[in-house]
Amino acid sequence: MSTQKVILSVNALSKNYELGSAFSRGKEVVHAVENINLEIVEGETLGIVGESGCGKSTLGRMIVRLEEPTAGEIIFEGEDLAKLSNKNLRSMRKRLQMIFQDPYASLNPRRQIGKIVEEPLRVHGVDKAEREKIAKDLLRRVGLDLEAYEKYPHEFSGGQRQRVVIARALALSPRLVVADEPVSALDVSIQAQVLNLFKDLQKEFNLTYIFIAHDLGVVRHVSDRIAVMYLGKLVELAPADDLYESPAHPYTKALLSANPRMNSDDKTERIILKGDIPNPINRPSGCVFHPRCPKMQDLCKSESPALIQIGDRQVACHFPEN
Ligand SMILES: Nc1ncnc2c1ncn2[C@@H]1O[C@H](COP(=O)(O)OP(=O)(O)O)[C@@H](O)[C@H]1O
Ligand SMILES: [Mg+2]
Repeated sequence: MSTQKVILSVNALSKNYELGSAFSRGKEVVHAVENINLEIVEGETLGIVGESGCGKSTLGRMIVRLEEPTAGEIIFEGEDLAKLSNKNLRSMRKRLQMIFQDPYASLNPRRQIGKIVEEPLRVHGVDKAEREKIAKDLLRRVGLDLEAYEKYPHEFSGGQRQRVVIARALALSPRLVVADEPVSALDVSIQAQVLNLFKDLQKEFNLTYIFIAHDLGVVRHVSDRIAVMYLGKLVELAPADDLYESPAHPYTKALLSANPRMNSDDKTERIILKGDIPNPINRPSGCVFHPRCPKMQDLCKSESPALIQIGDRQVACHFPEN
């Protein structure tokens, strides 16, 4: 992996949301993403997993600059996106696309599919004939009939609509696609088809993906490496197979054991995490996972573990497994 080209590096990236309230003294701060460091090489898929509210979407949205970082750098193809002017950001955006969970919400119900796929091309000044050619080609590549071109979103199933969304995201030939739970809203029977489409398109267009999911079963089959987040922090990052075969962070282990799809063999001990995900406003001291951790010791209550490299893996735990 070291000889491959780094397409994106995220350095000490953080996002806080300040919640003002007329009743509280001072402001409450949500630490949605805290001090995340990541490197992604061209052509790979980085999966990002964690329970709802751990900051996955905020991280993804910052990477495509739909969200302003509170601190940190986002170096994409050598330029710091956090510092680009709006004009330069616009041209950079062509190379960075985001796909969201709900394909219906992201499609204008009153526009024909062809026009929807052509929209980003129109905005970037591509002429009509060329737009139509590109759109029709993309619809074919995402597995839709040519008739789709003149139809409306409501005439399609959820899976087909997500194919339209994918076609539109590819219209400007992006290099990096951030897909935020792109199959979570689809029937399980359809999920595999859409995941396979993502994989096929990756090869065909040499795309780099950041693939966000709350379900470890979903990311396993598409990811080269997987990052696990907990309360805004990166707690483990490892090659996908290593992560599933020998999770090092107790949180990763618990997530895996709780997933019925990942846990077919009965010998795997099922770990039930104590308590709920803590409030990101008043986070626990020390290791943020300590109140729920089955391996918690005194040190964990007072000291936040650094993310350390062990072989190919990074883990933030005072007492990692294996
Ligand atoms: N615009 C916002 N204002 C305030 N808090 C927000 C906002 N967006 C997200 N959050 C909070 O930031 C945390 C992370 O949210 P999010 O990134 O959506 O998590 P995930 O995608 O992993 O479910 C949550 O506690 C969420 O409530
Ligand atoms: Mg989310």
